[in-house]
Amino acid sequence: MKQHGELDGKTVLITGATDGIGRALAQMCWQAGASLILHGRNPQKLESLLSTFSEGLSGQTASTVRADYSRLQEVRAMAGQLLAEVPRIDILVNNAGLYPSKRVITEDGFEECNQVNYLAPFLLTWLLRPLLIRSAPMRIVNLSSIGHRYVWSNLHASEKHPFYWRWVAYCRSKLNIIPWTRELADQFREDGITVNCVHPGVIRTKVIRFLPVSWGASTQSGAATVFRLITDPKLDGVTGEYFERYKISKPSVVAQSTRLQAALWRHSLRQLGLKQKES
Ligand SMILES: NC(=O)c1ccc[n+]([C@@H]2O[C@H](COP(=O)([O-])OP(=O)(O)OC[C@H]3O[C@@H](n4cnc5c(N)ncnc54)[C@H](OP(=O)(O)O)[C@@H]3O)[C@@H](O)[C@H]2O)c1
Repeated sequence: MKQHGELDGKTVLITGATDGIGRALAQMCWQAGASLILHGRNPQKLESLLSTFSEGLSGQTASTVRADYSRLQEVRAMAGQLLAEVPRIDILVNNAGLYPSKRVITEDGFEECNQVNYLAPFLLTWLLRPLLIRSAPMRIVNLSSIGHRYVWSNLHASEKHPFYWRWVAYCRSKLNIIPWTRELADQFREDGITVNCVHPGVIRTKVIRFLPVSWGASTQSGAATVFRLITDPKLDGVTGEYFERYKISKPSVVAQSTRLQAALWRHSLRQLGLKQKES
C-alpha cells in the first residue's frame, strides 16, 4: 500500500504528459498521491501511459484527455470536456511543447511552433477560467525556456516573415510564455490563483535532440524542478515569476516589458477571436 504524499486529494492536469518532462512529472505526482488528468495528442501513447498507474491511494484516479495543439478546435473540445467532467483542478501544468522541424502553417493560420507552445495553452487556460477560479487556491505553472534570452519579440513575424529559423521560432514561443504568465498572474491575483513559469534545465528529450549538444539532465531532474514549483508551501502566494530551475530569476529585458505584456495579450486575444469579457 502506498504512503500518503504531499499531493493527497489534489488533482493535477499535466499537458504533454506522454513523453519527456511531462511523463516523469506525472509519475512523481502520482507517487505524491495526486489524481491525474493526463493530456496528450497520441491515443496509443496515452493508453500506454495510463496503464502505468496502478495501486493508488483510495480515491486516487488517473484519466486522459486528448488534443492535438496544432488544431485549435481540438483544444476547444478538450476544454469543453474538462469543464463538463472535472469538478476541480488544483494544479495546471502547461507543459506540452515541440521544437519545429520546419515551418508549418496550421489549419488555423498560425506558425505551428508558436501555436503549439504558446497560443494553444493560452486558449486552454482562457477557456478553463471558470473551473480554475472555482478550484482556487490553485497553481498554474507554464514551461518557458532559457532560450527566451536569445530573441527579440516580433508579434507579427512568425506567419509572414520570408525567413524561418526554427531555433528563433522556438525561442520566441518560449519568450511569449513569460509576459503571458505575468499578465495571467495580474489578472488572477484576487482569485487565489498563482501563475509562474520555469526553465526546467537542459533536459535530454526530443525537444533538444536537434541541438549540437551532448549534455542534458534526466527527465526526472526536469520534472523535479516543476514538482517543487507545484508543491513547495514556501511558494504559496508567489506569482508572476520566472524560475530558472529552482531560483526566481530576472527574465530578459524584453520579457519584462509591460508594453509587450499588454500588446501580446491584446494580440493573442485577437488572433484567437476572444474578447476580454468572454468567460
Ligand atoms: N528539454 C529541455 O531541455 C527543455 C528546456 C526548456 C523548456 N522545455 C520545455 O519543456 C516542455 C516539455 O518538453 P520535453 O523536453 O519534455 O519534450 P518532449 O519529451 O518532446 O515532450 C513534449 C510533450 O508535448 C507533447 N506535444 C508535442 N506536440 C504536441 C501537439 N501538437 N499537441 C499536443 N501535444 C504535443 C508531446 O506529445 P508526444 O508524446 O505525442 O510527442 C509530449 O507529450 C516543453 O514545453 C519544452 O519547450 C524543455
